[in-house]
Amino acid sequence: MAYRDLREYLAVLENKGLLCHIEAEVDKDWEISAVCRRTFRSIPERNRPALMFDRIKGHDIPLVVGILGGSREIYATALETEVGNVLEKWESGTKNPLKARLVKSAPCQEVVHRGAEVNFEMLPAPVWTVGQDPGAYHTSPFVISKDPETGIPNIGTYRVQVKGRNRAGLMINPPRNMNQHIRKNEARGQGTDVAIVFGTDPVLGLTSVTPFPYGVNEFEIAGGIRREPVDVVRCLTVDLEVPATAEIVVEGRIPFQGREPEGPFGEYGGYMGAAGTHPFIEISCITHRKKPIYQAFLSQMPPSESSCIKGIGREAVILRHLKNNLGIPVTDVYLTESGGATGMLIIAMKKQNRFQPLKAMMGAWSLHDVFGKVTIVVDDDIDIRDSFQVEWALSFRMQPAEDVHVLNNTDPLTLDPSQPWKDGKPVLPTEQVSSKVGIDATKKHAFPPLAVPPREHLEKVDAQWERYGIRALKRNAK
Ligand SMILES: Cc1cc2nc3c(=O)[nH]c(=O)nc-3n(C[C@H](O)[C@H](O)[C@H](O)COP(=O)(O)O)c2cc1C
Repeated sequence: MAYRDLREYLAVLENKGLLCHIEAEVDKDWEISAVCRRTFRSIPERNRPALMFDRIKGHDIPLVVGILGGSREIYATALETEVGNVLEKWESGTKNPLKARLVKSAPCQEVVHRGAEVNFEMLPAPVWTVGQDPGAYHTSPFVISKDPETGIPNIGTYRVQVKGRNRAGLMINPPRNMNQHIRKNEARGQGTDVAIVFGTDPVLGLTSVTPFPYGVNEFEIAGGIRREPVDVVRCLTVDLEVPATAEIVVEGRIPFQGREPEGPFGEYGGYMGAAGTHPFIEISCITHRKKPIYQAFLSQMPPSESSCIKGIGREAVILRHLKNNLGIPVTDVYLTESGGATGMLIIAMKKQNRFQPLKAMMGAWSLHDVFGKVTIVVDDDIDIRDSFQVEWALSFRMQPAEDVHVLNNTDPLTLDPSQPWKDGKPVLPTEQVSSKVGIDATKKHAFPPLAVPPREHLEKVDAQWERYGIRALKRNAK
């Protein structure tokens, strides 16, 4: 049965022990970011909980974070599936889309603030990179707009800057679908209606951060994955429909040619992204459920929620391409958290001939221009999610003069600050060129036996570990 709303989903996370409540009061203007950073960096991905900050200083709305991408298990729970089944689940939605169902009244409009009552600052948006971001930011908005010709809506996550009681900034990268709505509206001399939604059933949230071709209706994809239509209700002040069970909806309009400075903002690679000129929104109405819950994503320095969300979908696509399209005996693929699920790719394979590692690198690089600036191929006995094992393979199964392949003139990753400068100055994103390195760390000939205790001895020690009384030393997290 599909989750009806965020609340039902949070109850499931709670039952599975995947949600941790923070009962201590926290300050959204510095503390939430620091607590999230410590949590994500000090707790390994497979043990990491989602967080619910129950008490936020000066606000009566709690904040949840990590509830879609705190870990792979959480992501799979959001899709009501297992980690290994994620791609199939997405495909079930794209193959069997279900139209949204229009309802007349909805929980998301239980409380309505219009006119002078509108106060965008009522929401507990944190300051994420204190001292560098210009202020509070919404990192998990599901932004809805529609094509003025076809009426087909789009949902996308584009960060929203808090600019006052009834003003917001929106950072939409050039390839994003919503830009086409703005362009089409402006060609007709008009502004663009926008609804910013916070806190929905988790499937809708995941469709918001997942790229689909222009014209694909995310409400219908979400309906297909849920096997139940998404209920929508008409907005009160703009010509849009929003998820009926959403926690909070902010309605507004980007005025015709409405642009102003936005940013800078901490980016997913761990460095600050530059400020720019981007659309702003004039907010006309805020509606919400009684006792609403606010959702945020942790982004910025990896590990983050955004690296987990991006990684899990991308890995499934690469694995399928290498195995099914290219026939390479790849057993696992990992876009590391430290590489923001983009920069570093590790591939494990049951190699049948010496050409396959290079073929796998080339296959991954040609599938998507920015994946795997550093790509490492190892044998299938290496657990590619264990960096120690990967570094061991690099150290003892690889000869730099023979096993390192550099590919020049590749597409750049524009948020990568290592992008070379020209004449002492940064190069414009449109003129950047990058390169890639592939390292074949598979065995090339017969190796000596491993120098480790027999497996049965290690298993026996594991089974009676308590008997030895060995404990890790307690140290402060860095
Ligand atoms: C945590 C997170 C934050 C994101 N922030 C932005 C952003 O500020 N601007 C942007 O253009 N894309 C951002 N993205 C990527 C888009 O959400 C993603 O490409 C999505 O597919 C966009 O929807 P669209 O394809 O319908 O345009 C973000 C993704 C994640 C996971």
